[in-house]
Amino acid sequence: MKTSLKFLPLIATLLLAGCGSKEEAEAEAEQAPTPGEIVASQPVPHGPEIKSVEITNPLKQDWVAAGKTTYDGKCMPCHKLDTTKLVGPGWKDVTKRRTPVWILNMICNTDMMLSTDAEAQKQLELCLVRMPNQNVTVEDARKVLEFMRSNDGEK
Ligand code: HEC
Repeated sequence: MKTSLKFLPLIATLLLAGCGSKEEAEAEAEQAPTPGEIVASQPVPHGPEIKSVEITNPLKQDWVAAGKTTYDGKCMPCHKLDTTKLVGPGWKDVTKRRTPVWILNMICNTDMMLSTDAEAQKQLELCLVRMPNQNVTVEDARKVLEFMRSNDGEK
């Protein structure tokens, strides 16, 4: 009994290490950027401010679909697709009220926006809930923007 207890910390360390490296590998795979699609210095959530976004015309339908999947999994609990407020504002016409750069920063740099941007702070005053960091990569956020544009009637 004593001997097996002695090895417990070692086993725990090995388990943690194994788990961590798998997650890191997955995160890296997820964050691989598509060159030229997104101009961002680093594709990590809550990383540097996003300064520019490339806009597609017509919409990329595979991005619209991928954006909807993210919406269904991570945004739907708080955002409706019409104009009505749930926890957060309804998304109808959000792409007309806001610029693409603003929207991507709101998704990927939520805390920065809520502490520095007057428009984001106005929404916070109305909603009384701080939008949590959703851990969405810049690439996935760009696809959510495509889905929002589609929801706003763009083709
Ligand atoms: C727990 C609830 C919650 C979740 C989940 C959530 N949001 Fe929000 N969101 C809010 C709230 C509340 C606001 C208004 C600002 C504030 O109060 O922080 C907001 C504001 C926004 C805005 C600005 C809307 C406008 O009209 O100005 C965008 C864009 C946005 N969220 C995108 C997303 C995306 C994309 C996801 C999913 C990846 C998401 N949100 C998930 C609560 C949430």
